[in-house]
Amino acid sequence: MGQRSGRKKDDQPAPRMGLNGCPLEGSFENPCYNLSKQTLSRIQDCASEHGRLRQENHSLRQELDKRNATRHEREMARSQELLISQMAAIFALAKLTESRDDETGGHLRRVERYCRLLAESMVQESGNVFRLSSREIDVLCRASVLHDIGKVGVRDDILLKPGRLTDEEFAVMKKHTTIGADILDSVRQKYPGNVFIVMGVIVARSHHERWDGTGYPDRLCDGEIPPPAVIMAIADVYDALRSRRCYKEPISHEEACEIIREGSGTQFHPKAVDAFLATRKQFQKIRQHLED
Ligand SMILES: [Fe+2]
Ligand SMILES: [Fe+2]
Repeated sequence: MGQRSGRKKDDQPAPRMGLNGCPLEGSFENPCYNLSKQTLSRIQDCASEHGRLRQENHSLRQELDKRNATRHEREMARSQELLISQMAAIFALAKLTESRDDETGGHLRRVERYCRLLAESMVQESGNVFRLSSREIDVLCRASVLHDIGKVGVRDDILLKPGRLTDEEFAVMKKHTTIGADILDSVRQKYPGNVFIVMGVIVARSHHERWDGTGYPDRLCDGEIPPPAVIMAIADVYDALRSRRCYKEPISHEEACEIIREGSGTQFHPKAVDAFLATRKQFQKIRQHLED
């Protein structure tokens, strides 16, 4: 058989050449064809310079990433700090508001517990009609303290009036829902992704809506009322009925349960009333445990 084309007479394979004239096979130590020592040395220098530059580029990139991450972390921490201080101010405002018409305090702590009880009962007893996730329940419970924050904008002579309010006074009183929602909404605009504030806006605005559409401020009815506000309404009313206020004496657990039962389908969502009645003993325990 004759020699295959591309092979030298001594049967050494002919080196394949790259575009720059360098061999594509073999190694620098054992080149497939003769390069001058000078060329070989230049190629080796280029290769090691290339490696060095690659390494340097990698290190610089790592350093840049680290600096960007640090800056981002600093910005996040600053924004978190600001948010926490705003939250603290909001909570202080909520407590201050509570202290004006709740002589002994405790309403906000109890309402938070009632909301959890009722929301979890709705998940278990009512087939979770509201499709509440455990995360939403957590957020609702924490945000429940904000429901009456708008009372900060109601005058003392109305908020603390011992007797029945006139129609005009009641109209002013009703505004605590929109005042509270507006205060929280201004914070929400600054932190649009903050679920806690978004929930605060919902409960502050809609906790006095009624199932039959005669509530305020928006006269929403049945399915239009946001689920957190449906839950909040029962928690708030139960505690208000059981508490002494400047305009009324407290009533017993049994009487409060009866009023809520009678409100099913008029004032309250029937499923929420069912969930309340299923857990009413625990409502009573919370009330006893966190007594005024
Ligand atoms: Fe209220
Ligand atoms: Fe309340």
